[in-house]
Amino acid sequence: MKSCLVFLFCLLTLSVSAQSSIDVDKEFAFAAKQYERMLQTHPDTTKFPQSTNPDGSIRNMKSDWWCSGFFGGSLWYIYERTKAPAWKDAAHKWTMAVAKEQYNTGTHDLGFMLYCPFGNGYRLTKNQAYKPIMLTGAKSLATRFDPKVGVIKSWNKFQTYNYPVIIDNMMNLEFLFWAANESGNKELRNVAITHADNTLKNHFRPDYSSYHVICYNPDGTVAAKKTHQGYADESAWARGQAWGMYGYTVMYRETKDKKYLEQARHIADFFLNHPNLPADKIPYWDFNAPNIPNEERDASAGAIAASALLELATYGGPSAKTYYQSAVKMLESLASPAYKANLGENNNFILKHSVGHKPGKSEIDTPLIYADYYFLEGLLRYDALRKKAAFKS
Ligand code: GLY
Repeated sequence: MKSCLVFLFCLLTLSVSAQSSIDVDKEFAFAAKQYERMLQTHPDTTKFPQSTNPDGSIRNMKSDWWCSGFFGGSLWYIYERTKAPAWKDAAHKWTMAVAKEQYNTGTHDLGFMLYCPFGNGYRLTKNQAYKPIMLTGAKSLATRFDPKVGVIKSWNKFQTYNYPVIIDNMMNLEFLFWAANESGNKELRNVAITHADNTLKNHFRPDYSSYHVICYNPDGTVAAKKTHQGYADESAWARGQAWGMYGYTVMYRETKDKKYLEQARHIADFFLNHPNLPADKIPYWDFNAPNIPNEERDASAGAIAASALLELATYGGPSAKTYYQSAVKMLESLASPAYKANLGENNNFILKHSVGHKPGKSEIDTPLIYADYYFLEGLLRYDALRKKAAFKS
């Protein structure tokens, strides 16, 4: 009788511990309350919530900053979950606030800036006014592609180099696929594929970690391999690894070319098997930061990786369950008090403890709007998957 009770107890503990502690409804109820406050403190749609200043005050940015689309995008995710018209109105307002960036040919970040708000808005509402704005924006982005070099230029200058490309740029390709599909302009699709192929060739090390910045010569050869936001040229900047993992997962979704799926899996394996990845699976800001464990975590990298892993898990393979379970662990960690703010604190951002640019002494251990965005996206992806038989514990 006693051993029977012990067995039953063990069984109960196992099944409970196998279940996730994430309550998606609760998380979105909190996000909605926190962002209601954010909306109240942001009456001016030219000032986009970005982070916290060193003195603790809110850090806002203008629409030409690469993060301007994440607030509107996050509001769309809250609308997607709550279906409340007030969120749709707020999301629309903050989406249209970025519209003028459709003509901006000075940045490679138009995917982040335009596709996160307008793409989600169009997906959820089919508002036809959004479409021409996105199509113009995608064409503006493609002007930064030089066929002789074979990649989209990220910045106009970096140190002494005139054609720098950062791994982050993989995130802007989804926008080009959308525009190619909508408009029939195959050139936009070719630009995305050529960029991804050359990035695959030049941006990665044999262990599948990536450099942050590759500087190209006019003939497409590599002039230098560098970092900007990471610890060192040869280190693995955590958010860069997450951008690459997400980017190649999208490449597989859009093309069904297995080489992209393999690349995404290799990056995921590098990330998840790294000896410096902490038990809660939220990475330090750089996998090779010199003072680990006394280094800041980057919640944004955890949120981006969680969302990417949840999509990657849907493509099967021997590690699908590991990817799913790792993503769930990341979301659980982010949803815990270790990373999630209390209501009304943290300048009304949802997550604490991200790192924007440590070598630049900017946004160190602060909230970041894109950490919130990918956390909400990850929660929605998790909620869609957890009901599927393949992912039930
Ligand atoms: N795209 C810039 C960053 O990830 O910080």
